[in-house]
Amino acid sequence: MSQVSRHNIVDSRGNHVILGKRVGSGGEGDVYEIAPHRMDVLAKIYHKPLNGERQEKLRLMVSGCNDDLKEFAAWPLDLLHDGKNGPVCGFVMPRITDCEPIHKVYGPSHRKESFPNADWKFLVRTAKNLAAAFYIIHKYGYVIGDVNEGNILVTKKACVRLIDCDSFQVQTRDTIYHCEVGVAQFTPPELQKSKDFKMLRTRNHDNFGLAILIFLLLFMGRHPFSGVYKGTDDMPIERAIAEFRFAFGRSAALKAMSPPPNSVGLPIVPGEVSSLFEQAFTESGLHSGGRPSANDWWNMLDALEKRLKKCATESMHT
Ligand SMILES: Nc1ncnc2c1ncn2[C@@H]1O[C@H](COP(=O)(O)OP(=O)(O)O)[C@@H](O)[C@H]1O
Ligand SMILES: [Mg+2]
Repeated sequence: MSQVSRHNIVDSRGNHVILGKRVGSGGEGDVYEIAPHRMDVLAKIYHKPLNGERQEKLRLMVSGCNDDLKEFAAWPLDLLHDGKNGPVCGFVMPRITDCEPIHKVYGPSHRKESFPNADWKFLVRTAKNLAAAFYIIHKYGYVIGDVNEGNILVTKKACVRLIDCDSFQVQTRDTIYHCEVGVAQFTPPELQKSKDFKMLRTRNHDNFGLAILIFLLLFMGRHPFSGVYKGTDDMPIERAIAEFRFAFGRSAALKAMSPPPNSVGLPIVPGEVSSLFEQAFTESGLHSGGRPSANDWWNMLDALEKRLKKCATESMHT
């Protein structure tokens, strides 16, 4: 914590807030317990002073908070100020406990360590709950923007919680408070060429990242655009995404791609599920609303979950 004195922080009612143990740290801020006796919430304190726009964005998020958003996300609950009537220097949010980042669920080796009892049903349930979380954010008019494997946490019961919500895009009738960050592997083709992320983000952009995460969950941590490319030039994931080279898709061969050796492919899921991936990862997803929505995914994954049966000989198999 560089600029702000930790003894001078007050909440929106002017009450002093005492910071406890630091429990996390990121590029923009540090995350602290609030001492004493407030185990259900944490404080995020920014490393650098926020400009007026960022302060206003947090104000809007606090006033837009509701039970749905609080259930799925570490939504800003109250503002923290650097001194009485001072600038906004952080916020209070729900504390997410007993969870791991989603990459520890879909990465097979991490999964064995962090989620040893997770079978395929658990992965389908996680994917469904992920779709529910996106659905709620979109329902209230927000866009996640920076979809990535570190900002999504999963509990032992496959519940999904979103953190780093202050980076979400917030839109009012006349102002857009941008999400200025992103991670290339979860960024749709139409945004791959931009050098930064200071543009309008849409639900359709988020829905690309959602489909990538669902694919990673259902297909053993394989990225849908990471396959074997027949050309002689380099084909990093970013370029494969920009050129719609979905390595597991129906048109993969036309795009000079094939799935990596020994990988499980789309045939392990019902045709309706693979059609959603085709829609998300091909040119047909480009137009507004072109990609499957969080609601479309939830319905499909719910149906898939209901169809799953346990293997009679091997309990971890479905
Ligand atoms: N609500 C929360 N509950 C539990 N841990 C959190 C919460 N918010 C943040 N953290 C922890 O703090 C770290 C940094 O928070 P984050 O909001 O991602 O910071 P930044 O925006 O600076 O990157 C996270 O990776 C996570 O480990
Ligand atoms: Mg952030």
